[in-house]
Amino acid sequence: PRKQQLLVVANRLPVTAHRKGEDSWSLEVTAGGLVSALLGVNELDAKWIGWAGVNVPDEIGQTSLTEALVEKRCIPVFLDEEMVDKYYNGYCNNILWPLFHYLGLPQEDRLATTRSFQSQFDAYKLANQMFADVVCQHYEDGDVVWCHDYHLMFLPKCLKEKNSKMKVGWFLHTPFPSSEIHRTLPSRSELLHSVLYADLVGFHNYDYARHFVSACTRILGLEGTPQGVENQGKLTHVAAFPIGIDSGRFKRALKIPEIEDHIKELKKTFAGKKIILGVDRLDMIKGIPQKILAFEKFLEENPEWHDKVVLLQIAVPTRTDVPEYQKLTSQVHEIVGRITGRFGTLTSIPIHHLDRAVDWNALCAIYAITDVALVTSLRDGMNLVSYEFVACQESKKGVLILSEFAGAAQSLGAGALLVNPWNISELAASIGQALNMPAVEREKRHRHNYAHVTSHTSKQWADMFVSELNDIVVDDQLRT
Ligand code: UDP
Ligand code: G6P
Repeated sequence: PRKQQLLVVANRLPVTAHRKGEDSWSLEVTAGGLVSALLGVNELDAKWIGWAGVNVPDEIGQTSLTEALVEKRCIPVFLDEEMVDKYYNGYCNNILWPLFHYLGLPQEDRLATTRSFQSQFDAYKLANQMFADVVCQHYEDGDVVWCHDYHLMFLPKCLKEKNSKMKVGWFLHTPFPSSEIHRTLPSRSELLHSVLYADLVGFHNYDYARHFVSACTRILGLEGTPQGVENQGKLTHVAAFPIGIDSGRFKRALKIPEIEDHIKELKKTFAGKKIILGVDRLDMIKGIPQKILAFEKFLEENPEWHDKVVLLQIAVPTRTDVPEYQKLTSQVHEIVGRITGRFGTLTSIPIHHLDRAVDWNALCAIYAITDVALVTSLRDGMNLVSYEFVACQESKKGVLILSEFAGAAQSLGAGALLVNPWNISELAASIGQALNMPAVEREKRHRHNYAHVTSHTSKQWADMFVSELNDIVVDDQLRT
């Protein structure tokens, strides 16, 4: 019999396309946790279905891009500009994303959003239907369809309505908020009902899963069971599947000569200084202003550290058409400018703030030479940057300062210094504690985190989800 195919459906493909000519394209690896994690899935016989991050209105473009993506095992979904604006910028990133991370909008934006809500939600449903159509063109009996993230909460319903036998899983890469937050969403019930069409629903941790189940019981009045949610005799399984990284890839990278050279160069550049590192998409949820303000306070309180410590902040631009992200960019630039003016000298500056992505080799080298990684997310589904840092620290054994609001706090909490990023004084003090930590303690903390990161990989995460989904469907068929 034909081998079972895994269809991975996510809003964003692992490669982003740039048009070079009428029918020629260049493909670039996409940044972000979902894509990093799913790269580990490649070993399964998987195909990707998603948006290539580019508007392609013409047929020649669509055909040639579809062909260019074949070797990456990717299948594009084409969304026009208006759709991207309403579905992606609007409903996904201006409504669902802040809500799922417990962040409110400013009053004037909230009113504007309330007015455009319905048309954005309609676009969201339509976009999900378009993803479903592409899935159905490629689906064959027995395949597994794995839907990802908040962009595609409507997809399980679209798929099951077309074919009730399809094995459908859905995984959320963000937190799922308390039902008290979810119930403020005008489309609260429709979204929950659509997700419940899936056979298996997965979250990064037990808290998010519990929040989802209680939203279904309190808002929809359904019954929550230890396995999941029951609706008229149909059970949707709900469980926690904490994601991991491909730690071997990072370990091997540090032995590649090009990366070793890079490490040497960086060590020379920052000789005599301790390095504090931040790596984030420039997103409200990452607490970047809080992080920089805490660093400023640390410098204020510890003049002996001036010139002896530097903060490298890689701030990858993201969702730049959404006004909230534009405001954040100028806010961060203002604070960085102030601190550079205050604490910089003719020969040294306290913060290197980069508004761009760095390539993977450079990122590995930076992780390896860092003394203290600073992850200050106000909320974060998991946060893979913290895992990647740990994977690259076998020789240095640096300190991870980690927000208690990142999913990773549940797995790396015992090795990291856990902080509340809203408490700037505590954050500043933890920077001091990390910089002064005795080697024995650093080593002990690192051991703990390293053991976790190397024994919980993205491949295992994907295998676990897919095999659970297969088992559930087989059990259901035996029962009926
Ligand atoms: N990343 C990247 N290029 C960069 C900086 C970061 O590809 O210049 C990757 C990083 O390696 C990590 C991902 O982006 O795998 C960020 O994932 P995380 O879970 O920390 O946060 P997310 O962006 O998903 O919110
Ligand atoms: C987070 C989301 C992903 C998303 C990524 C990058 O990790 O969970 O679904 O792909 O951010 O954001 P973007 O909007 O550029 O796809």
